Amino acid sequence: MNLLPVFALSLLLCCPGLRAQEALKPRYLDPAAPVDERVEDLLPRLTLDEKLGLVHADSKFCTAGVPRLGIPKMWMSDGPHGVREELSLDSWRPAGRTDDFATWMPASIALASTWNPALAVAYGGVLADEARARNKHIMLGPGVNIQRSPLNGRTFEYLGEDPWLVSRMAVGTIRGMQAGDVAACVKHFAVNNQEVDRGKVNVEVDERALREIYLPAFEAAVREAGAWALMGAYNKFRGQYCCHNATLLNRVLKEEWGFRGLVMSDWGGTHSTAEAVRDGLDLEMGTRSAYQDYYLARPFRAGIEKGEYPLALLDDKVRRNLRVLFAIKGVDGRPAGTINTRAHQAAARRVAEEGMVLLKNSPTLLPLDLSTIKRIAVIGDNALRLGALGGQSSGMKAFYEITPLAGLLAYVAGRADVTYSLGVLAPQHQRFEALAFDVTGAALAPAQPSPAPESTLNAAELADRAVAAAKAADVVVFVAGLNHERNQDTESSDRLALELPYGQPELIARVAAANPRTIVVLVAGSPVTMDPWLEQVPAVLQAWYAGMEGGNALASILFGDANPSGRLPCTFPRRLADTAAHASGLARHYPGEAGTVHYDEGLLVGYRWNDAKAVEPLFPFGFGLSYTTFGYSGLNILPGGEGGALATVECEVTNTGTRAGAEVVQLYVEPVAPAVARPVRELKGFDKVLLQPGEKRTVRLALGPRAFSYYSVERKAWVAAAGEYRIAIGRSSRDLPLGGLFVLAAPVETR
Ligand code: BGC
Repeated sequence: MNLLPVFALSLLLCCPGLRAQEALKPRYLDPAAPVDERVEDLLPRLTLDEKLGLVHADSKFCTAGVPRLGIPKMWMSDGPHGVREELSLDSWRPAGRTDDFATWMPASIALASTWNPALAVAYGGVLADEARARNKHIMLGPGVNIQRSPLNGRTFEYLGEDPWLVSRMAVGTIRGMQAGDVAACVKHFAVNNQEVDRGKVNVEVDERALREIYLPAFEAAVREAGAWALMGAYNKFRGQYCCHNATLLNRVLKEEWGFRGLVMSDWGGTHSTAEAVRDGLDLEMGTRSAYQDYYLARPFRAGIEKGEYPLALLDDKVRRNLRVLFAIKGVDGRPAGTINTRAHQAAARRVAEEGMVLLKNSPTLLPLDLSTIKRIAVIGDNALRLGALGGQSSGMKAFYEITPLAGLLAYVAGRADVTYSLGVLAPQHQRFEALAFDVTGAALAPAQPSPAPESTLNAAELADRAVAAAKAADVVVFVAGLNHERNQDTESSDRLALELPYGQPELIARVAAANPRTIVVLVAGSPVTMDPWLEQVPAVLQAWYAGMEGGNALASILFGDANPSGRLPCTFPRRLADTAAHASGLARHYPGEAGTVHYDEGLLVGYRWNDAKAVEPLFPFGFGLSYTTFGYSGLNILPGGEGGALATVECEVTNTGTRAGAEVVQLYVEPVAPAVARPVRELKGFDKVLLQPGEKRTVRLALGPRAFSYYSVERKAWVAAAGEYRIAIGRSSRDLPLGGLFVLAAPVETR
């Protein structure tokens, strides 16, 4: 006999009102009940159509929900850099609203360049606060695909070329986001390493490279950070589309890693009902507006009715979707969000400052001393160009955007003359919507001066004018780089070459000849080459796309209020042929031949290629200068350690200069005479330490079994082979002053 009504009635009699209502409340509405119990309580209450409404899109960015039972639509938003503007429900057109401005954080690659996982947590936290304020349940990020080719148009949206670095930054971001009751959707699973033909290209990659290079960040996202959602990639992997790929989704993600959240398709990345049903997709999102015709809508229903698909397959997908919604308190009412707070602005600025990488500074021109400077010539399209809205899905409407020019002007504040010249003819800016709001949310005047100030001049006149301005100045800040136009740093297309466009290389050379005190600031989201000007200029700063506080961050770096501490998350090659994907020049390796791209370089991606092939990079992975200097000493390698570590490595770092600064201590493991092929060295630990002048600190890094392991295809396990390993420590993959041996006495196998 079901005693619940009797119990409820007796409650009602003795304590009327609220408590009685509570007692009648179904279990799935009880915020205190465990998530799985709530899911199991709700599932049998759903009709077939209600279940189906949870596994496919109901508009461009939401599912249907079950209003009858108080289950809200589940809303998602791009993307990695902030909450995207609102789009029309059924098309990619902007919804035209004025309440959808958000904090524009620095691009993911800038975040990666901070090498500071704690900042990634803060970054994720900002996104979550603003997502809640905009009623979004899932943020479509972070993007963790490995940089295989420096031409990949989405390099700026990802976290670099090294699995360990990408994993650490992704785990931080996800934790920050999900602690704020917003689910992260880690994308794009997997091997989506180019935009050319992304919708259909098939990727062939050997199992070791897959496991050791391309999957670790996804694995860490799931197993360590507990990411609630993953997005399938557009491309195929070993012949099957990634959005319903039995190997990736069922075998690896769900069986091996025990993923209990949901897999959503990339928009329009689903191609078959049967495969979507059986091969691991849980939520079909798309760009078509006939939502009832989606593969997981009517065709799925028809298949269930005909007995082709067991209901259990639908129930599993529904459970996964509901689990996510309950886990983030999507049914209970989440704490109110906040948007564009001073804390968010400060986080954006801090990431921008810590992410900028000083590539060159000799003779020591930076930091600039304003007391000795009367005239500053700022040159370049990127000094004034707005970047927030570009690059497609990661674009967003920033509350404001401090351009490099605006930041420098604000910093100098009349203490020196600042002139501006465009210098080059770049394509017209697309939409640049940026409003300025104060922290109370009241709108201020538009933040930007109107662009194209010299629009009537031709290329030669623009260049001459810039050279003349350079000549007349004490110092030149040339803000060069790329932008989010097609074939640059953008989704849907790859770059065509590594060189800077629009004649910038030639103009930088002319400007530097006119004024040797020329600083080149690169606003770009991927590596560029620096011919013929690198030797000519004394200083180069990689600023990336630095978010809405970028100009302020730039000024504080150039004038020394902040000491650069960013390190490259990817190798800067001397030429395209120096990178693994492009070395052969064969279409087979990039962008694919007869529909397939073969990752024949295997493990040798990024610096692993340079090290194995003895190819000198322009700037190595992990590189970045500081305004101070650091000394390394006292290497100590101890067996064992916390959390099942096989070894614990200690060393001392000293700030040997006169300014406070942060050093990124990097640890690489180099197997000595391995029995199976291994990269020369691999990053397996790092720590960022802030040191006052003269301060010395002990850095301690624990190395677990994975730090020594390769993936054994035969054993389907990670094997740390017994033998010798050299531990190398230093400030980049090619500047490793400390080294010592560690001997692993017996092999260790993990899964
Ligand atoms: C992109 C995804 C994005 C989605 C929704 C796709 O084209 O590849 O990264 O999240 O669109 O905007």
